[in-house]
Amino acid sequence: MSVLVTGGAGYIGSHVVRLLTERGDRVVVADDLSNGRVARVGDAPVVQVDLATDGARDALRAAFAEHDVDAVVHFAARKQVGESVQQPARYWSQNVGGTANLLQAMEDAGVGRLVFSSSAATYGAPDTPVVREDGPCEPINPYGQTKLVGEWMTRAAGVAWGLRAANLRYFNVAGAGWPDLGDTAVLNLVPIVFRALDEGRRPVVFGGDYPTPDGSAVRDYVHVADLASAHLAALDGLDADERAHDVFNVGTGTGSSVLQVLDAVREVTGLPVDPDVRERRAGDPPSLVADVSRIREDLGWTASRGLADIVSSAWEAWQVGRAR
Ligand SMILES: NC(=O)c1ccc[n+]([C@@H]2O[C@H](COP(=O)([O-])OP(=O)(O)OC[C@H]3O[C@@H](n4cnc5c(N)ncnc54)[C@H](O)[C@@H]3O)[C@@H](O)[C@H]2O)c1
Repeated sequence: MSVLVTGGAGYIGSHVVRLLTERGDRVVVADDLSNGRVARVGDAPVVQVDLATDGARDALRAAFAEHDVDAVVHFAARKQVGESVQQPARYWSQNVGGTANLLQAMEDAGVGRLVFSSSAATYGAPDTPVVREDGPCEPINPYGQTKLVGEWMTRAAGVAWGLRAANLRYFNVAGAGWPDLGDTAVLNLVPIVFRALDEGRRPVVFGGDYPTPDGSAVRDYVHVADLASAHLAALDGLDADERAHDVFNVGTGTGSSVLQVLDAVREVTGLPVDPDVRERRAGDPPSLVADVSRIREDLGWTASRGLADIVSSAWEAWQVGRAR
């Protein structure tokens, strides 16, 4: 297979690039390098392009032809929830506009298979602790809205010209499949705690009075290497004759509380981790865990790594990143 990976120089995309390359697929990356690094993609060729610009369609069509592309994995997007609240137009333009250009170029070039990076943010703040794909989607910020619209766009392309798409709703992604591919952004809990420890600060925990076993919020942490393998399962699943679903939760199906994550960090690093528990943050649900039965039944995929692996691999990668 020949696969074009948008955003392949970023955190999750570079894991998928490496897995595809290792199994012998040909890979080309399309990335504007705004948040990615060429060093993360090995020998894969990189087309430097901002997907949200008018020139992107020509650049993509040329890359599809030159590399004889069969399928696309679409990671390229802005991903900061808070920033999306401050700059909604930029998020709509980048995430929705970029996806529109990609879909147009795919239609023009007859590239008919797509795996799209969606997010648990499409669910918003559900009142059930475990969410299923057919439950309500009511995103509470522009970032989550752009992801839901992205799903709608892939579905509409399926109706209009036969695109076969799999939309993967990632839960809380963390860890590193290889020490050189760690998360460089400090936006998610694990790197936020590492940074606090580096700076000699107490990690802040928002909410200690949720109706959860220890009072802190519960989330579904999925190892990035497991998440990457879900993309390969999804790509392969697009070839199946009968496809019942086009959207899949990607998580472990098991929740961990913020305080449990902090315990794991204490264990792995050997450092004292003294949580600074503050008020809840508006919009944060007490618990958000994936029902993973659909992806297991339809694609035969399950996560194989747990919290200890996530934190230890992230810590190893954090130290490599710090040394750079
Ligand atoms: N990291 C998470 O926890 C998480 C959770 C749910 C969903 N997602 C989604 O997964 C995808 C990848 O996330 P990530 O954590 O690897 O982020 P990342 O920022 O590390 O990777 C995104 C990559 O896309 C590139 N990019 C961004 N906008 C672009 C554009 N307009 N044109 C071309 N390239 C562009 C960046 O340079 C970067 O290399 C995103 O779509 C994100 O919304 C991430």
